[in-house]
This record gives sequence, C-alpha cells and structure tokens, in this order.
Amino acid sequence: MMKEKEYERRRKKLGKKLEDSSVAVFFSASYKVRSNDTEYPFRQESNFYYLTGFTEDSAALVLVKEKKKVKSYLFVEKRDKEKEMWSGKRLGKEGAKKCFRVDEVFEYETLNTKLKAFLDAKKSLYYDFKLDYSKIKILKRYSKNITTIKNAAKLVEKMRLIKSASEIKLIKKAIAITKEAHHRAMRLSKELKYEYELQAEIEYVFKKNGAYSDAYTSIVACGESANTLHYISNNKRLKNKELILIDAGCEFEYYASDITRTIPVNATFTQPQKELYEMVLSVEKKIIAMIKPNILRSELQKKSEEMLCEGMIRLGILKGSKKKLLKEQAHKKYYPHGIGHWMGLDVHDQAPYKNENGKEIPLKKGMVMTIEPGIYCPKDDTTIPKKYRGIGIRIEDDILVTKEGYENLSQEILKEIKDIESLSL
Ligand code: GLY
Ligand code: MN
Ligand code: MN
Repeated sequence: MMKEKEYERRRKKLGKKLEDSSVAVFFSASYKVRSNDTEYPFRQESNFYYLTGFTEDSAALVLVKEKKKVKSYLFVEKRDKEKEMWSGKRLGKEGAKKCFRVDEVFEYETLNTKLKAFLDAKKSLYYDFKLDYSKIKILKRYSKNITTIKNAAKLVEKMRLIKSASEIKLIKKAIAITKEAHHRAMRLSKELKYEYELQAEIEYVFKKNGAYSDAYTSIVACGESANTLHYISNNKRLKNKELILIDAGCEFEYYASDITRTIPVNATFTQPQKELYEMVLSVEKKIIAMIKPNILRSELQKKSEEMLCEGMIRLGILKGSKKKLLKEQAHKKYYPHGIGHWMGLDVHDQAPYKNENGKEIPLKKGMVMTIEPGIYCPKDDTTIPKKYRGIGIRIEDDILVTKEGYENLSQEILKEIKDIESLSL
C-alpha cells in the first residue's frame, strides 16, 4: 500500500502548478453496466486514484487555490446502512477524514452546492476534458466569472511520467506475479488443448497472488491467430508445431505489467520458428540495450524498424535494398506497431509523449516503458517464404530508465529458446 503522505505530496505538487484564483475538480470512476443490472468490477479512475488513493465510486476531489494557498477537499458518498448491506461498507465522511490527509471531507451529495461557492469569483477552472458532458454542464453553470478553462488531466498525466520508488515497487510486484503466470503457461502448454485453458491458468496465478485484475484482456493466440494484433477471443485449439503468442500481465494494487512471450505448443520450436524468433529476440535485446536517459522513443522506433527490416531481408521475407524498403515502409506490413509505450497506473500509461511545444519528451530516470518488437507473417501471404507463413511473434519486456541506463524489470521471465524449451518439456 502506498502511504497517504505520497498522495498528499502529489496534491501539493499539483497545487503549485495551478493558477491563482482557481478550482480543479477530479471525479472518481463510475460503475459500468455489463448487461441489464449487472456491472463490471469497479476500477478507480487513474488520475483520481493517483491524487487520492481513494477507491470508492461517487467521489470527487476539489483543489481550491486562492492567494497562493491551496486547499484540498474530498467528497465521498454518505454511509447508508441498507445500501451497505447490499454493496459493502463505505468509509463515509468521518472514516475518510481519518484516512486521508485532505483539508476537509464532505458528502458527495453536497458537491454541487459546494462547487457553486468555490467557483464564485474564481478566474480559472480545471477539469478532465474527457469527463462526461453531464458533469461538464454543471461545472460550466457555476463558472460565471471563469476566464480560463484548462485540462486538469494533462497536469496530472505529466506528473505520472516519472515513477516514485513506491510506484516502482508495485510495478515490480505486478511483474513478479506475471512471471509466475508466464512460466506456468510454458510448463503447461504441452498438456492443454485450448487457448482459453492457458488463459485460465495465467489468470489463476494473477488472482491467486492477490492481483485484483489483469491489466488488459489477455491475448493467447496460437498460430495464425497471433497475426491479429488484438486477438482476445482465445477460443481456438492449440495445434502441434505452432507457436502461441501470450500477451498477458496482471494489475497489482492499480499498477500494470505488460509482458509478451511466444512459446511452442509442443515444447520445441521448429527450424523456421527458431529463425524468426531469434531475429525478433536479437532486435528486442539491442533496443533494450539502447535505453538510457535522454534517448528518444522515436530513435528506438526507427532503429527497431531498421533492424527488423534488415532481418526480414536476410530471411527472404522482404526483397530489395534496405534503404528503398524502409522508404516505402514495406516492413510495416509485418511490423505495424510501435516499439513500446509508457506503463504505470494504466497499461498504456496516460502520460504525454510530447511537451507543450510539441517536442518529443526524451527518456528520463524513473520512466517505465515497454519494449515489444514483433513480426507477423499472415498465412495467406504468398510473397513470403512458405515456411514462415502463419507465424506471429512478439517479445515484450517492461523497462525502467535509470540514472546510467536501464533496468529490465522483467529480466527473469524466460525468453531464450533453450530456456523456454526446457521449461516446457
Ligand atoms: N498488451 C498491450 C500492449 O502490449 O500494448
Ligand atoms: Mn505493450
Ligand atoms: Mn502487451
């Protein structure tokens, strides 16, 4: 658990960035209907969580800045015995006041009245521009004197770029659980028959170890299925001599992990699979080795495209000069995605890639990003050697940028052919 002081520090830091005579409003997530009267499990909105650590719905955080002083107010749902009997205990005003280091806690039903008073005679208003319109409408109704409206989410998301020691600890914990899950999948791949069975084994490890959820829907894609990048149906039979691309990571105490391994169904890689796999693995390792402060993500992207293009020429997947193929973007047919993304409270962490001037933000100590090159050779592509058709491979690790270079946080999750094979036997 993160200490409440850390959330307080974040609110203070944010408060400093607010203009004087302003109000910033953040809302909790709401329950989402799954079907009729059943709901998806509740998951707190990431920015709201980042600033409060509060995990209930029907809540809001309001920062009010006046004469350079910032006050923070938490609004929580009031306790109701009957409701609590159905849906569980709430902290309520008194409970929240004890747990959270805010200036005051109010009941959520008073939010509108309080907002009206807070916004009276203020100059600036901050809220998340992705907020649903019913809430924006209320905010605007009380904003008679407001001259500037700014996106509150952007300020928080920028803060989320650099991870603190306690955030890194949670990411490491998420990865440690995910390691167990991938290794279990490697051990069991030989005896299971369907993609969803592997998915179940992976998610069993997540839950068994206290990870409340997966960080995104697991992809367990055998053979040609791996060539569908967002394949999540996971309902096909595992076929002997095919590869299984497994992109799965748990979320632990709100922090994500995001790992892909590609393993054989029957413990051994075929020769063509080995050739493709070694090519992707060597690119992945070389890109990871480039990571250090001040390098740009776009440089990693460019280098990964060059190296994968080179590899594709070497294996006869692309024909022609590297320069020409890169210029024509021919490699994108088989490597169409990015080299990686920020990761944190969200698997695709909502943190900026560019600063306010539109300039790319270089890597800095404390950032966490994935590195995930891949190659996808469709079954029906007659322009590539037959032996490679129907193979899709991606290898993905989670990397922390350090003062000198990097730390591969998922280093221990096996990815060498010999290691995967010996675990699978
Ligand atoms: N699992 C989502 C991604 O790799 O970006
Ligand atoms: Mn990823
Ligand atoms: Mn992934």
